[in-house]
Amino acid sequence: VVAAGSGERFGDRKQYQRIGGRRMIDWSLATASDFSAGVVLVVPADRATDDESNADAVVAGGSSRSASVRAGLDAVPAQATHVVVHDAARPVPHPDVWRAVMDALGAGAEAVVPVVPVTDTLREVDGTTVDRSRFVAVQTPQGFRADVLRKAHAADVEATDDAALAEAVGATVTCVPGSASNIKITTPADLILAEALCR
Ligand code: CTP
Ligand code: MG
Repeated sequence: VVAAGSGERFGDRKQYQRIGGRRMIDWSLATASDFSAGVVLVVPADRATDDESNADAVVAGGSSRSASVRAGLDAVPAQATHVVVHDAARPVPHPDVWRAVMDALGAGAEAVVPVVPVTDTLREVDGTTVDRSRFVAVQTPQGFRADVLRKAHAADVEATDDAALAEAVGATVTCVPGSASNIKITTPADLILAEALCR
């Protein structure tokens, strides 16, 4: 669970904001625990000594999301066969989505991403309107064969998600249904919706 961002667009470290009585990170830790043998929580460096009883390990993140995932991956035991990466910024519990990711990994997928249709009309910045049906929006949790994710992160590479890095080292990415309510908290207004969804 990566939670080492600074929340620039939110205006605060959003991962410690409360939603329905618990911190944003606790929602994701609870769901991740239900679906895995161990959970690594990646937090800002000055919070790495916090007592986080819902995580099996707590490590300091880096200056980018990819660097934070690498820090977390370093704390995943070598014998782990699969690793799921989840953004703490997506707190709404979605066991259905986690189950779909796990099932695809169980069926042999190298990399799995939950996707949803794009609802806005899309335009190229320097072009024209594009055919929206050719695109999907990508969410987390994203699941990987451990060797694939380690290879994807072997170098100091950067991308907005891990599937892009896995693809760059030749992995095939499998899509499973995400959920429109698996929202990412970016601005304070998103918190209002998350409150309602978590309730
Ligand atoms: N993240 C991280 N380490 C970073 C940057 C991001 O672990 N250096 C995590 C965030 O905590 C979040 C997820 O990656 O759970 C997705 O990032 P985002 O929504 O962009 O969060 P922030 O980077 O905190 O927000 P902003 O980009 O507005 O600063
Ligand atoms: Mg960010």
